[in-house]
Amino acid sequence: MDILSIDGLPNDEIAAILDTADLYFSGNRGRRGSERLHGRIVFNVFYENSTRTAMSFATAAHRLGASAIALSVERSSVAKGETLEDTARTLNAMRPDALVIRHRENHAPAVVAEIVEAPVLNAGDGTNEHPTQALLDAATIRRRLGRVEGLKIAICGDIRHSRVARSNAKLLPRLGAEVRLAGPPELLPPDVPQLSVAEAIAGADVVMMLRVQRERLEDDLGDAPGEYLARYGLTAERLATATPGAVIMHPGPMNRGVEIDGSIADDPERSLIALQVEMGVAVRMACLERVIDARN
Ligand code: NCD
Repeated sequence: MDILSIDGLPNDEIAAILDTADLYFSGNRGRRGSERLHGRIVFNVFYENSTRTAMSFATAAHRLGASAIALSVERSSVAKGETLEDTARTLNAMRPDALVIRHRENHAPAVVAEIVEAPVLNAGDGTNEHPTQALLDAATIRRRLGRVEGLKIAICGDIRHSRVARSNAKLLPRLGAEVRLAGPPELLPPDVPQLSVAEAIAGADVVMMLRVQRERLEDDLGDAPGEYLARYGLTAERLATATPGAVIMHPGPMNRGVEIDGSIADDPERSLIALQVEMGVAVRMACLERVIDARN
């Protein structure tokens, strides 16, 4: 079994991943000591920058007794012109037990999964999907609020370029949430209702802010410092219109003072940003265990 997209995951698999992750998170399944994947090898192949996702997949592998081996793409034969397919054939010949890939092109993980016999996990492909991020977001919401069903979840910012938004917009409604996507008009895809950030946040139970992906923008937004925050960011005034117990999320990396006021990101009561990172390890443990177990 590969984990390439949310649509590719059946409901029972999603439920099993979330339940297993919660067990790892709470320490009821040997959070730091399981040897379930002892002797297995996980390849981490990241063609785009990453702090959280790369480190948490590696930590998850180690916590399960597996070894994580990272290819440093900028020093690899990719720099000598090797194609993605040839790199995949090369890595496959080393017989890893799973391969985790992040790539700037949409659907690159699916191309690799056609070649590599071991399970392939998509750690983010272009503007397409980031399924393990959506799974960890759902697990974090459930952990903190006890459920996902019936919640109003505002996802605000650069929706057009966000694989996090795309995966969450598929996963969270399947778990019974109402998802509201909002952002600057030029950063909203044409096929979603044009909602303002203020409208999305009003009455929301969860406010998830996203980074403006300037590396994927052809033209700069042309905004002056502070202008984006005032027009589209999460400020104390906007947050006051959410439900009284509303929680704040951000997949990271965040730009303080752009999409989110720094003091809101640091709010010890309401910000789940650190919890998302911690849950990310547990969710990736669950994902690795399920895809590798499913093979044998
Ligand atoms: C995101 C990504 O890479 O898609 N980060 C992450 O994985 N936590 C979001 C981003 O880069 O803004």
